[in-house]
Amino acid sequence: MPTERRSLIMLFGANGDLAVRKLYPAMFKLYEKGNIRDHFAVIGSSRYKVDDAKYRELVIKSVSKESSNKKKITDFASHFYFVTHDVTDLAHYSALKDKADELDKKYQLGGNRVFYISMAPNFFGTVAKNIKNQGLLSTSGGFNRLVIEKPFGRDFESAKELNDELSNAFEENQIFRIDHYLGKEMIQNIEAIRFGNTIFEALWNNRYIDNVQVTLAEKLGVEERAGYYDNSGALRDMVQNHIMQIVSLLAMEQPVAFKDTDIRAEKVKALRSLRVYNVAEASTNFVRGQYGAVGENRAYRDEDGVPKDSNTETFVAGKLLFDNYRWSGTPFYIRTGKKLADKFTRVDVVFKKPLVDIFSFPQSGKALLNANVLTIFIEPTQGFSLLVNAKNSEQGFHTEPVNLEFLEDSKRTRETPQPYERLIHDVLKGDGTNFASWPEVASAWKFVDQIRRVWDIQQPMFPNYIPGSMGPVSADELLARDHREWIYKLNQ
Ligand code: BG6
Repeated sequence: MPTERRSLIMLFGANGDLAVRKLYPAMFKLYEKGNIRDHFAVIGSSRYKVDDAKYRELVIKSVSKESSNKKKITDFASHFYFVTHDVTDLAHYSALKDKADELDKKYQLGGNRVFYISMAPNFFGTVAKNIKNQGLLSTSGGFNRLVIEKPFGRDFESAKELNDELSNAFEENQIFRIDHYLGKEMIQNIEAIRFGNTIFEALWNNRYIDNVQVTLAEKLGVEERAGYYDNSGALRDMVQNHIMQIVSLLAMEQPVAFKDTDIRAEKVKALRSLRVYNVAEASTNFVRGQYGAVGENRAYRDEDGVPKDSNTETFVAGKLLFDNYRWSGTPFYIRTGKKLADKFTRVDVVFKKPLVDIFSFPQSGKALLNANVLTIFIEPTQGFSLLVNAKNSEQGFHTEPVNLEFLEDSKRTRETPQPYERLIHDVLKGDGTNFASWPEVASAWKFVDQIRRVWDIQQPMFPNYIPGSMGPVSADELLARDHREWIYKLNQ
């Protein structure tokens, strides 16, 4: 049996979409595996007036597809309690405190408390402040941890303001800022691939790597989230957090040890050496897009809740430059967008071609050697491949690219713990490795703010790409200018 993690989880936003779709199923998985067992309890809260029985029904419904073991599900749900809560009503905090103290005794939780805020971001600061001021923090020697969902601000200033509010109640090492990409199996595998293999780490620099490409493509459009998305756009929604986290894992130096403080220190160093662009650089090195209509597919501006004249970007591509010894001269290209050809995330590390190609005889018209490419497939396929040049088996001497490939089989992929299961487990263990620290968030905002500033004063030509494509032509031009191209192209 795994170590049992004793704790109370106080969940703000207990009826919300995230709780129902992700958090309860993730907690159930931990319960099934024995990571949480007898000594755990959840207090769900929201402004609804719901009793424990009704709340448990909601929990049972949300986890029912995870198992056919009805008893296990009912046992799990019996650990859930509900307290109606209005974030500004102080009396409600004292009800939460009483319930927390009662459950602490009942389940012998050792005073361990996780405060999980899964609500609209404008409540984060108020809830954190009242948790402290109304005496909800455990004082009996257990831990106090705060889990907070994105978005963490909408620019550096607002993020700093929020962080200051949180810091009045919690220390940095008690704050777990969720970036669900850090809970993905293959994102975590980036460190294993890099630091577990001499053949990669020895070459992981500007002498051998020509460029790195990160693609987070989505097939769906904005769906029912227009209210949030139209005020955010792809740059804030995907680049500031997920893409910056992936890039920092790819660019960082080797940590002293495989532990949260050392890994975070290296990620922060990498992000701090990312060149923050001036106006001219931002205009040249970043492009944006918005999807138009094609066939059955509505244009972004025709989606429910989106203003007809919206200039919100649903696509971003950009070039990132690190001004440090390891990466100077090797660009990182990134792109992400909605309504693209398919849903997938991948990283392509493109190595430099051999300096001399002894196999190429220009007069014979034979193909030149290909660049070696290490592709890390994050989702939905999990695995990696390495493109190498080899002799083909025909008469004469011809080289051709072949792929060395490891792809996780679909059963293993299905069984891989989902991000929220990993991340909640990490919170209970107190392991901050896969969470965004404040210095990382701050550096990422400072970079992104500069792009936003330029975009806010330039009028885009939207819409400029069609659903089912890989974004606007300008995304290809961005690389073509550097005599490069995206490794993943449509119809490959
Ligand atoms: C979220 C964004 O953070 O990530 C969404 O807000 C996006 O807009 C989602 O769709 C993508 O996550 P995943 O795990 O489906 O790739």
